[in-house]
Amino acid sequence: MRNHLNKLADTISQDDAAKDKFEGQMDSFFALFRRYLTDKAAGTAVDWDKIKSPNPEEVIRYNSLSESSPDNSKLLSKLAVLKLNGGLGTSMGCIGPKSVIEVRDGNTFLDLAVRQIEHLNRNYDSDVPLLLMNSFNTDSDTQHIVKKYSGHRIQIKTFNQSKFPRVFKDSLLPVPKNVDDPLSAWYPPGHGDLFESLTSSGKLDELLAEGKEILFVSNGDNLGATVDMKILNHMIETGAEYIMELADKTRADVKGGTLINYDGQVRLLEVAQVPKEHVEEFKSIKKFKNFNTNNLWINLKAIKRLVEQNKIEVEIIPNAKTINYDGQSDVPVLQLETAVGAAIRFFDNAHGVVVPRSRFLPVKTCSDLLLVKSDLFYLEHGALVLDPNRYDGNPLIKLGKSFKKVSEFNSRIPHMPKILELDHLTITGNVYLGKGVTLKGTVIIVCNDGDRIDIPNGSILENVVITGNLKI
Ligand code: UTP
Repeated sequence: MRNHLNKLADTISQDDAAKDKFEGQMDSFFALFRRYLTDKAAGTAVDWDKIKSPNPEEVIRYNSLSESSPDNSKLLSKLAVLKLNGGLGTSMGCIGPKSVIEVRDGNTFLDLAVRQIEHLNRNYDSDVPLLLMNSFNTDSDTQHIVKKYSGHRIQIKTFNQSKFPRVFKDSLLPVPKNVDDPLSAWYPPGHGDLFESLTSSGKLDELLAEGKEILFVSNGDNLGATVDMKILNHMIETGAEYIMELADKTRADVKGGTLINYDGQVRLLEVAQVPKEHVEEFKSIKKFKNFNTNNLWINLKAIKRLVEQNKIEVEIIPNAKTINYDGQSDVPVLQLETAVGAAIRFFDNAHGVVVPRSRFLPVKTCSDLLLVKSDLFYLEHGALVLDPNRYDGNPLIKLGKSFKKVSEFNSRIPHMPKILELDHLTITGNVYLGKGVTLKGTVIIVCNDGDRIDIPNGSILENVVITGNLKI
């Protein structure tokens, strides 16, 4: 492997700086790869009997946090906000970075983040910067797009996460032979790469020099991840180096990682680490009550210390994929990834805070898009606020595969229905909604293959099942 990586570096014809940077990345990749092999040989699966529920001080409720200090400007002077922006919009049928998908009233994810921070800066006369961690997939588009915010009251700093070579699943040799090989030969190694890339890009030192102490990190597609003064205050008051925002699990949240106490230490446990025979137990709401929202508050000096000491060695998630390579399709490859949440165990006084569900509003599918575009929320300075008339949690919305792409969603539901009193909506097949439609209770619309259902303008559907080729 080492030789192959050295040969790859030799294919660089650019200046020394580019070569140094590339070699640095290959060193990091090599360390990751070696650790993967060692861990695999040692069989580092978690010991189920050692897993305990976290101690009371390791997971605390948001309501128990003290009120924020009156000097919000002082708190904000120590804060920087970072959005994970390495992902593409492909799963929602969009080209380019996911953060540039329009999600609400003409605003993209990025527009909303900018508006929120701009509002903070204006309101508290602060200078909270927004950092975007891009990947090689999203960088050039993002650079171009952020130019439009140049006159705004916000400093936007971008940096790139690493670009690692995929490896062939069989031989475990790197796929690329040349630095200029197609993008499919490379991958961004997950958001766990944040610590290394923040440091090597120079952004960490820059933030520290500006007096910043705390970094609020979140997924670019979580519209609930706004700056929260109470958590910021708590972070500073307690001197915690890392706080993970957790949300109470519902039956719909079987996937997310959970905090555990392992050997006396707080740790994140992901479903991929759970032995098969315990997966059901892991998913149960009773034993593991909350999950990681990936809203994280991290002390910048602690990042510097741990990176310098090479201490952040988080669990490796091997991700198997297939690519088109050298005229062959479906060639099996492996990419080794890490997650930022797994680093919690290396930080002092790290703990979880169980936050209100409203801080977890991810948009992963067009079903989520319907929710966040609807009358259930209104927009306030770039943040989505739940209509106070809503009685309960969010409705469960399931749109079928004809709504997978944002373009399909927009043409089938050009005007958002009113869903304030909706509990459950399922739509599958060739269905179009008219203007001013109201949905209440449980509404199921199933269109048979070859048919089409048009819900007329102004319809009020309450607790109904509509099937076949019905015209109301
Ligand atoms: P995903 O959307 O891929 O993951 O990335 P997920 O399944 O929802 O949830 P996690 O990973 O368990 O939190 C979440 C965020 O991380 C960014 C994506 O752009 C998205 O905002 N990301 C992911 C990166 O920035 N780099 C990566 O290598 C992977």
